[in-house]
Amino acid sequence: MTDAHPEQPVLASARLRLRPFVPGDAPGLARLCADRAVAETTLRIPHPYTLDHAEAFLASLPEAWAAGQEAVFAQTLRDGGDLVGAIGLKLEPEHLRAELGYWVGVPYWGRGYATEAVRAVAGWAFLDLGLGRLYAHVMGGNAASERVLLKAGFSREGLLRRHVRRWGRTVDCPLFGLLKDEFGRAAPHPTSEQREEASPAARLQNPKLDYDD
Ligand SMILES: CC(C)(COP(=O)(O)OP(=O)(O)OC[C@H]1O[C@@H](n2cnc3c(N)ncnc32)[C@H](O)[C@@H]1OP(=O)(O)O)[C@@H](O)C(=O)NCCC(=O)NCCS
Repeated sequence: MTDAHPEQPVLASARLRLRPFVPGDAPGLARLCADRAVAETTLRIPHPYTLDHAEAFLASLPEAWAAGQEAVFAQTLRDGGDLVGAIGLKLEPEHLRAELGYWVGVPYWGRGYATEAVRAVAGWAFLDLGLGRLYAHVMGGNAASERVLLKAGFSREGLLRRHVRRWGRTVDCPLFGLLKDEFGRAAPHPTSEQREEASPAARLQNPKLDYDD
């Protein structure tokens, strides 16, 4: 990954256009994020969510991109341009890795948009940014998000116990990871045998100390 940060790209998948947010997205963003169901399983979305929250969030993004800290994309429909959600990477270039986060507005749930966006961003992260690893924490009980990550080829790497507090509850967070050399190789629905072979637990039997070869 280079230190230069040119303009944030637009990524396209079959049905989505992942583009940088613009200030005019604030009302649509506020409308989708106001839903408690979207805020509940994320740490970054306040609740209740107002237009001020949306505007402050959008205003922070260009600087975060320019500083090489974060790349956040609006998930929009290629057909019609509706804003359906967001997806982003917290970049950690010194480790050639990034933390993935995403949400989809409730009216658009269950159509495969999150999975499609994760695959598109993973392709960009590995093939264009040159990262070697993506990871995500999921708040315990968020089965839909776990499913998204598994469908996109991530492995469950462990459980971060009592890792976050949200709305007065302390919860465990399963940790998911995807390596560059696994990207594109994972079958969409791996068998349990394949999952076991590819699992970090299996890899721990033969740990590798140098990944730069
Ligand atoms: C998690 C989230 C992003 C999923 O978005 P989406 O566009 O509906 O996801 P997809 O349609 O790509 O895939 C969802 C999968 O979860 C499954 N699913 C949904 N609810 C589920 C549940 N309660 N239990 C088990 N699986 C569930 C769906 O059936 C689908 O799997 P399938 O294709 O095998 O049928 C969305 O629910 C969301 O934004 N939630 C709130 C914010 C959030 O949790 N973000 C993630 C933080 S880690």
